[in-house]
Amino acid sequence: MTDGGYPEVASPPMTAIDTRSFQRIADLMRAESGIVLGEGKRSLTVSRLARRLRQLKLPDFSSYCDLLERDDSAEERREMLFSLTTNVTRFFREPHHFDMLRETVLPPLVARARQGGRVRIWSAGCSSGEEPYSIAMTLLDVMPEAASRDVRILATDIDARMVAAARDGRYRMTEPDQIPANARRTYFETAQGSPDLLLVKPEVRALVHCTELNLLRDWPMRGLFDVIFCRNVVIYFDGQTQERLWVRFAETLSPDGHLFVGHSERVSGPAKSTFRAGGVTHYVKAPSGAKQHEDTL
Ligand SMILES: C[S@@+](CC[C@H](N)C(=O)[O-])C[C@H]1O[C@@H](n2cnc3c(N)ncnc32)[C@H](O)[C@@H]1O
Repeated sequence: MTDGGYPEVASPPMTAIDTRSFQRIADLMRAESGIVLGEGKRSLTVSRLARRLRQLKLPDFSSYCDLLERDDSAEERREMLFSLTTNVTRFFREPHHFDMLRETVLPPLVARARQGGRVRIWSAGCSSGEEPYSIAMTLLDVMPEAASRDVRILATDIDARMVAAARDGRYRMTEPDQIPANARRTYFETAQGSPDLLLVKPEVRALVHCTELNLLRDWPMRGLFDVIFCRNVVIYFDGQTQERLWVRFAETLSPDGHLFVGHSERVSGPAKSTFRAGGVTHYVKAPSGAKQHEDTL
């Protein structure tokens, strides 16, 4: 019973969002992250945010939008963003990229590092770390002494929770075949008492620096990258945002640097002419000044 003597009625589960509120949330998502929430994402928006509304004891999405739009609600906007981003990833996703890395991309970079040179690789939109650790394992296969050279992998994501998980480097293996047997044996330890919990070994983690970064904002990194992985990230952005990002990646790559994108992504817009095709969803930056012919892509 409530204080007023009325029977307490459990609030009905939040099952719908009105059109105006959905638009307000979509506008905020786009402004904060570049992610476009299309009409098809309405029920996902309800299911992912309903719990938050209950926690905040808000009666409907309209009140939640009022809260989100307040100047002092930056933290709540982050919560919303984290709830609505897609973080699906896995080790050695799109294995042909890792074959290309091992066989073609890394050998000259390893040679340079062995002569005292600097090598930088960026996993942009790294989610919970499976991608940058797959890069690190591939690197260690061909350069076991990588940690003693000037070779680093930067792993960034907008989602602080994903960055924390990546830093942690612990993975519950629901699909045991996800990691090739050799990599599993060489680069993972099993947590005591939890055989399905795999820990990335310290020598792999030592190569990877995980930090929060919103790709739409400033990039504080100095120096160019030799390889950038930005896979299955821009697919959620609108065309203009994608084009701007490709230009920024091109500017951030060294001459002959490599860009790997997701299986359904393609470099578009002005940056297209600065790349040549390297392989499937793999681009190579032209040496500075040399613009590539459109039809090479
Ligand atoms: C589907 S996951 C892809 C993970 C990995 N690259 C892969 O291909 O397996 C997309 C990641 O992009 C991140 N993301 C989305 N918008 C972003 C932005 N504006 N800046 C940085 N990361 C972003 C999400 O948080 C999510 O972890």
